[in-house]
Amino acid sequence: EPSAEERRFAEIIEADSRIEPRDWMPEAYRKTLIRQISQHAHSEIIGMQPESNWITRAPSLKRKAILIAKVQDEAGHGLYLYSAAQTLGIGREEMNEQLLAGKARYSSIFNYHTPSWADMGAIGWLVDGAAICNQVPLCRASYGPYGRAMVRICKEESFHQRQGFEILLELMQGTPAQREMAQDSVNRWYWPSLMMFGPPDDESPNSAQSMAWKIKRFSNDELRQRFVGMLVPQAEALGVTLPDPELKWNEEKQAYDMSEIDWTEFQEVLAGRGPANAERMRRRREAHEDGAWVREAAAAYARTQAERKAV
Ligand code: ACO
Repeated sequence: EPSAEERRFAEIIEADSRIEPRDWMPEAYRKTLIRQISQHAHSEIIGMQPESNWITRAPSLKRKAILIAKVQDEAGHGLYLYSAAQTLGIGREEMNEQLLAGKARYSSIFNYHTPSWADMGAIGWLVDGAAICNQVPLCRASYGPYGRAMVRICKEESFHQRQGFEILLELMQGTPAQREMAQDSVNRWYWPSLMMFGPPDDESPNSAQSMAWKIKRFSNDELRQRFVGMLVPQAEALGVTLPDPELKWNEEKQAYDMSEIDWTEFQEVLAGRGPANAERMRRRREAHEDGAWVREAAAAYARTQAERKAV
């Protein structure tokens, strides 16, 4: 026999309404949200690195200004998401410690290098495109603070995606060497961007429960399929080739057929053995240490302000 609060929780989920921080919730629901939201926040923070690599070398002042703004947006996304996770009763320091200790996950996609300027285009187009595809449904997540944080994040992600598309478009209208650079970058980012959606449905341990709780609204494979459907006409407009010889519209399925994803590569990256995992973690730890004086100064300022008010 479910308790009154369990019934109330089930009714809110059933009615497609929202669970708020003060509402009762099952411990497992709280844990799942802390897991997903903190991983998402860490992804935004680690995700600043592959692009910040190009800030000093952007090809023009305009591109540099846009790239700085974009990387700064990602810091902002990380902060909203840490705040949303904090409403579930976990501290910011604890989440940060989990990340620095290598105990927390962040998206696989940020463990790849960015050797060319075209990678700024491919990240915007493919990586931010995949992020939008995954995150628009999260705006309707059953947990209020998460869903609301996602609304603003998705708006900014849409802008990021457009700027990436535009970088690639400009390269594709350029010299043969520029076109080749754009295509090479799409070749390298296409498969990792499909891996962002997570393991196939039959190997996704969290999906069924997260969908029942209406945190996730679509399965990993459904979103991956939707993403590919979005990319095909955009690739045509750009004049780039998606690097999958098996990619073909299947009239009967009303969806694209595609090659099998290399899940061994995905597992390797998740296990910490991707091309840039070690470097990303090293850089994050350094940045945290370098920022110690800022945290100390901010805390000291807050203390003196509070003391002054008390007087
Ligand atoms: N990179 C790293 N880990 C992943 C990835 C990935 N691309 N995909 C799945 N995983 C992990 C899951 O976190 C889970 O591990 P855990 O149980 O230790 O937490 C495991 O693989 C199994 O996956 P699922 O059961 O499918 O996990 P889940 O239901 O959480 O679905 C998904 C994964 C789709 C990534 C989901 O967590 C999600 O939508 N998160 C929010 C979006 C997000 O984090 N985006 C970050 C990248 S986009 C950006 O920031 C620009």
